[in-house]
Amino acid sequence: MNKTKIPVNEPYLGQREKELVNECLESGWISSAGKYIEKFENQFAEYCECAEGVTTTSGTTAIHLALKSLGVGPGDEVLVPAFTMVGSVYPIVQCGASPVFVDSEPDTGNMDIQDLESKITASTKVILIVHIYGHPADMDPICDLARSRNLKILEDAAEAHGALYKGRKAGSLGDVGCFSFYANKIITTGEGGMIVSNDKDLIKKARQLKDLAHGKIRFTHELPEAFNYRMTNIQAAIGLGQLERIEETVKKKIANAEQYSNLLKGVSCLKLPVCRPWARNVYWMYGVQLLDNDRFARDELMTALKNEGVDTRSFFYPLNTQKAFQGYGKQDCPKAEILGKQGFYLPSGQTLKPNQIQRVAEILVELLQA
Ligand SMILES: Cc1ncc(COP(=O)(O)O)c(C=O)c1O
Repeated sequence: MNKTKIPVNEPYLGQREKELVNECLESGWISSAGKYIEKFENQFAEYCECAEGVTTTSGTTAIHLALKSLGVGPGDEVLVPAFTMVGSVYPIVQCGASPVFVDSEPDTGNMDIQDLESKITASTKVILIVHIYGHPADMDPICDLARSRNLKILEDAAEAHGALYKGRKAGSLGDVGCFSFYANKIITTGEGGMIVSNDKDLIKKARQLKDLAHGKIRFTHELPEAFNYRMTNIQAAIGLGQLERIEETVKKKIANAEQYSNLLKGVSCLKLPVCRPWARNVYWMYGVQLLDNDRFARDELMTALKNEGVDTRSFFYPLNTQKAFQGYGKQDCPKAEILGKQGFYLPSGQTLKPNQIQRVAEILVELLQA
């Protein structure tokens, strides 16, 4: 058998990115002062159906900047899924606020709305919603809840560029949306991030905080704290090139998922990803759950796949269970813990060929049904 490695994800960088990056190098505009920053902010915000965007250095710093711009600070609680990447949570702690972990829906992995509601207290300031693995959360009830309890909504759309909720773009549905452009994301700038919003005051605050709070007169500063979260012109150039193809990339992700689902639908011990009728799931990663079976535990199956040249990753280990956050008290999220134990994702990159997906599915079926 051909055991050439099939990677879990690889970025695709085209000719257009090279042209734009070369232009930066030739012109000498390599810092954040170049013209591509504003262009990328405007064009990505427009793609997200938002008035404005502010580039940052990562998805994590985008979330930090957004929380700070929302005024989150010591004494505040932020509701956040237990089942997410830690980049959603460290910024809460950096603001001096407390993360309150919310359990998950067993199929989409998104926040469980009943659990969310039960965890609101007088100290809750923000609902930090995550569109897990590219499936948008059910935003209408979350927005109703936030409105009725006077809470802000931050959408962590790091995994959901182009995802749609009832026809509207992920990132545009709450008060502020945050994106990551890390190399494995739907579009990349290598490292990088952006916040998008229709709230002009929030955007103004974010621009100030992101760039060392320079006043009208340079080297005058009025805020007691600020950051250097500036993206470079070179990164923005890559992002612009990627953005030109974003719909193509999203369609490829969806096609990959449809091919996997067709090939794997008969495997009774695999729970496949879902797509709610109102959603465009962009399948950032094609995540499956291994149910009880008499052949493999999840990690053994991942090792067996690796031995056949198929790279996979386990789902997130829920953050309520991690040592890092035990200082916030015992918080049970049993459904998130099940996801963390039985889930893993298959190769999901935009560069995958249909015959590679076919091969992954065949190996998986063979291992589970032999
Ligand atoms: C849901 C989620 N939030 C935040 C982040 C953090 O983004 P970054 O790695 O760009 O800091 C990621 C990155 O993988 C993510 O998946």
